[in-house]
Amino acid sequence: MSTPPIAGFGRDYLAIPGPSVMPDAVLRAMHRGAPNIYAGELIDIAASLVPDLKRVARTSGDVAMYIGNGHAVWEAALANTIAPGETVLVPATGRFGHGWADIALGLGAEVETLDFGKRAPMDMDRIAETLRADVGHKIKAVLAVHVDTSTSIRNDISALRATLDAVGHPALLMADCMASLGCDRFEMDAWGVDVMVAGCQKGLMVPPGMAFVFFNAKAAAARAAMPRVSRYWDWTPRANPVEFFMYWNGTAPTHHLYGLRTALDMLHAEGIEAVWARHARLARAIWAACEVWAQGGPLELNVADTQNRSCAVTALRLEAPNGTALRDWVEHNIGLTLGIGLGMAPPGDPSWHGFFRLGHMGHINGHMIMGLLGGIESGLIALDIPRGSGALEAAAGVIAKG
Ligand SMILES: Cc1ncc(COP(=O)(O)O)c(C=O)c1O
Repeated sequence: MSTPPIAGFGRDYLAIPGPSVMPDAVLRAMHRGAPNIYAGELIDIAASLVPDLKRVARTSGDVAMYIGNGHAVWEAALANTIAPGETVLVPATGRFGHGWADIALGLGAEVETLDFGKRAPMDMDRIAETLRADVGHKIKAVLAVHVDTSTSIRNDISALRATLDAVGHPALLMADCMASLGCDRFEMDAWGVDVMVAGCQKGLMVPPGMAFVFFNAKAAAARAAMPRVSRYWDWTPRANPVEFFMYWNGTAPTHHLYGLRTALDMLHAEGIEAVWARHARLARAIWAACEVWAQGGPLELNVADTQNRSCAVTALRLEAPNGTALRDWVEHNIGLTLGIGLGMAPPGDPSWHGFFRLGHMGHINGHMIMGLLGGIESGLIALDIPRGSGALEAAAGVIAKG
């Protein structure tokens, strides 16, 4: 006799790497009638978001807000700085580096890609070699993904800045912090990042729909020197609006502003250092469990070295078809949704079913992560997938002792 599912009651847990779990307070803040966009509190709320976003990004530079997703701000960052025919360097450590490269191609840029594969971080020596070979300084920007959500590799952005400086290369350093902002330590100014892009749907805990480009004076100078910039993508009026509509070059994303206001209040009440520490500790609990499972079966962390692992997303390998079987089991039986493997194998290829990911970003705490791990353990048992024993105890030890 098969066991009846115990899903459909209680709270489902969407443990995919974005969109992330939304706090009730954010949902409540958004649950309201349409506000006036010409006068009233929305005007003040919009202005109040600017310094608080910059605090999360650790920058005294500017921020431009867009109605859009991560792809939108990939395009926005490039539209303001890279003219057709100019060259960008993309050190790729997963699917999202290639995604940003593709947006650059679409805008007419020349793209030089250094592909570091799916399991290793950027190799600074190879990047230095490429920059050194660019004696004419054709490369105008380096497009670096801080945390690649497909592979869960976290790259060392301050080392990338040091590499550019050591070579004496003037290229702009652009960072994609879509999967790291509000999760992993990121210091825009201290790390010498010129342009940073992020969305609101991961560490910022708001439904998808708003995204941001942060930029410093060097990037603003590059923008000023552009022959032309599309009116819509131009970050200048968005960062310094003379009238309210200029923040978004049109109607404001009204309800997102209420949600984001609440999410930023939550982040700053906790303190950004504490937010990073919480993510790091919960990530270590996940890794501890995965390392134990790995000792007695096919489960494997995609990134071997803890230094190179994201604290917000974990990519795992589980030999096809076990990855998909596990995701299906936990979703249908216990109300837990895990992320698909992304960019690890071509869709349609049987090996595609050997990968999955855990999202652990934003509004998460210890019992959610223990529930996530307990759910995976239940699935491994139900599917009779070999595994080391003691994984939950290892995770609980990290939760208990930090
Ligand atoms: C690191 C990274 N960059 C860019 C994107 C693209 O963002 P979007 O899907 O919101 O367009 C994502 C999406 O998950 C991402 O994780």
